Amino acid sequence: MPSKIPVGILGATGVVGQRFVQMLEHHPWFAVAWLAASDRSEGRPYGDAVRWRMKTPLPPVVAEMRVAQASPDGAPKVIFAALDAAIAADLEPRFADAGCAVVSNSSALRMKSDVPLVIPEVNADHVKLLECQSWRRKSHGFVVTNPNCSAIGLVMALAPLHQQLGIETVMAVTMQAVSGAGYPGVASLDILGNVIPYIAKEEEKMEEETLKLLGKLDGSKVIPAPFGMSAHCNRVAVEDGHTESVSVKLKKKAGPEEIIKSWNEFRSVPQQLQLPSAPEQPVQYLGSADRPQPRFDVDAGRGMTASVGRLRPCSVLDWKFTVLSHNTIRGAAGAALLNAELLKVRGYLD
Ligand SMILES: NC(=O)c1ccc[n+]([C@@H]2O[C@H](COP(=O)([O-])OP(=O)(O)OC[C@H]3O[C@@H](n4cnc5c(N)ncnc54)[C@H](OP(=O)(O)O)[C@@H]3O)[C@@H](O)[C@H]2O)c1
Repeated sequence: MPSKIPVGILGATGVVGQRFVQMLEHHPWFAVAWLAASDRSEGRPYGDAVRWRMKTPLPPVVAEMRVAQASPDGAPKVIFAALDAAIAADLEPRFADAGCAVVSNSSALRMKSDVPLVIPEVNADHVKLLECQSWRRKSHGFVVTNPNCSAIGLVMALAPLHQQLGIETVMAVTMQAVSGAGYPGVASLDILGNVIPYIAKEEEKMEEETLKLLGKLDGSKVIPAPFGMSAHCNRVAVEDGHTESVSVKLKKKAGPEEIIKSWNEFRSVPQQLQLPSAPEQPVQYLGSADRPQPRFDVDAGRGMTASVGRLRPCSVLDWKFTVLSHNTIRGAAGAALLNAELLKVRGYLD
């Protein structure tokens, strides 16, 4: 069997960093070779530095690895980055400049015109933007990003509708899990028995990222999808899984059967290429009146399937429905892994 590609994780001790460690444990193509975090963790064995919050045991080999300095010296060529945006804005370009393929979760560079923002089922062709990056020309390094954890579930549900029927307007109201705020995240006294109707910069990210993801690649830029979009973002006392209530106005009229079929039959590049992290069914429609629910449906497709339900007419727009997706898997580490798998197949990691 050919040897695996060594990869590094920047921000390895955080919620998303831990999810990377968990998801990479049995990955057929990639193996964790390097871990970095802040200077609070640097130099310590990962098992001591991390407060492990995953439900599977910390892999012993990784527990013994020393947390490195967050600098490109000595780092492998493929880096999964899970850093706060302010830190990513400084560090990710340094890694790309040094020749690394940076597969990022952060919002720092997502909206930069030459940085691809990718969901492989939705806009795999946007990866070509990498050719426009100055890092790639200089050192072969680059940055590719996956979307905000609330934009991704929404866009997976919208993509089949946009492709087949055309979208005119979207209204989305989120109920976002506490793990979306990192660790330790929101204080228990703030969130228990409560709903917080504000998540800094989240509504702006959902609105602009949705339009970039569903936009058209035109040479060296993406032309955003031309529809109106409004998001309301709330934090709720759920551990994992962002639930969203969505209303949508479509260009072409369609009945419920056609819409449900478009979700259930949606397949794309990752399924055709049989990428290791690709779910068999990226979007599933659940027929029960009270689903999807995070407690029962968040792990669908190993956390990579978006679950949709409650399709019904909307008296203001055309249709309304609920969508749920796993924020640290499909919304973060799993999304980045799928991006890296696509990049490998397309020859960008050679
Ligand atoms: N949580 C989610 O559901 C989710 C979903 C999608 C995207 N994201 C994005 O992913 C990124 C990480 O989120 P998270 O939830 O994992 O955050 P987190 O739990 O707060 O983890 C932050 C990580 O960054 C490290 N770090 C802090 N300062 C650093 C520095 N100066 N240099 C190097 N490393 C530093 C921390 O290391 P120490 O432990 O040493 O402090 C930790 O490993 C954010 O941009 C977030 O918006 C998160």
